[in-house]
Amino acid sequence: MDSEMKKRDENQYSPRPNGGSQSTPLKLPFIIGVAGGTASGKTTVCDMIISQLHDQRVVLVNQDAFYRSLTNEQLQKVSEYNFDHPDAFDTELLLSSMQTLRTGRAVSIPNYDFKIHKSVEPARLVNPADVIILEGILVLHDNRVRDTMNMKIFVDTDSDVRLARRIQRDTVERGRNVENVLDQYAKFVKPSFEEFILPSKKHADVIIPRGADNDVAIDLIVQHIRTKLGQHDLCKIYPNVFVIHSTFQI
Ligand code: CTP
Repeated sequence: MDSEMKKRDENQYSPRPNGGSQSTPLKLPFIIGVAGGTASGKTTVCDMIISQLHDQRVVLVNQDAFYRSLTNEQLQKVSEYNFDHPDAFDTELLLSSMQTLRTGRAVSIPNYDFKIHKSVEPARLVNPADVIILEGILVLHDNRVRDTMNMKIFVDTDSDVRLARRIQRDTVERGRNVENVLDQYAKFVKPSFEEFILPSKKHADVIIPRGADNDVAIDLIVQHIRTKLGQHDLCKIYPNVFVIHSTFQI
């Protein structure tokens, strides 16, 4: 077993946070990370996984919620701000929120408004669940975030398709004009994709070509999650049974 797989096994059956023994494991949630470039179809892939796991308690956490709010000074020069750089996110808050959920407690996460580039009230309450899906452009970038995950997915969609979707979405849903979208894409979105997002693909267990159009890949992923959740329950009853995580690519 390689060290990454071993770490994930330990993640699943680590001792209770309150100091309980390892022979009475806490049933930790199964955490899935879904990364990919802008407008690659991450949200649709997550929705498809959630709807196929209808008999499980599943929650979706968006990395977008952890965007840092811009100051008034930054807002005045918003066209110079790189929203695709890892520093644009409050990763410490993301990690502590994931840790709270992982130990079975509800957590309040910020509610980010893309039109004003700030978090707004009310915050969103996320309840604990059996499966937690963490979705966002850079969820596979930081090793501390990756280490919380039992399964890592990268949605790999053609960049022309992504740009076309991004223009459509940003003008319709995020109150932008085409010129600004293209400007931001050339200045920040594309270079950051190449520098940070694309290199994070090597950490994925599963790469989905064509995103949400790939029904076969999504079926296989859901089947794999179900198998793991079954083993999860087996370990709850027989704590000495170990789960071996496998790595696969579609
Ligand atoms: N972004 C922005 N303005 C902000 C904050 C973020 O334009 N105030 C942009 C960033 O440039 C980044 C993108 O939002 O590229 C991240 O969102 P994206 O991944 O495109 O959204 P999803 O809906 O999750 O994408 P998908 O279609 O893959 O589901």
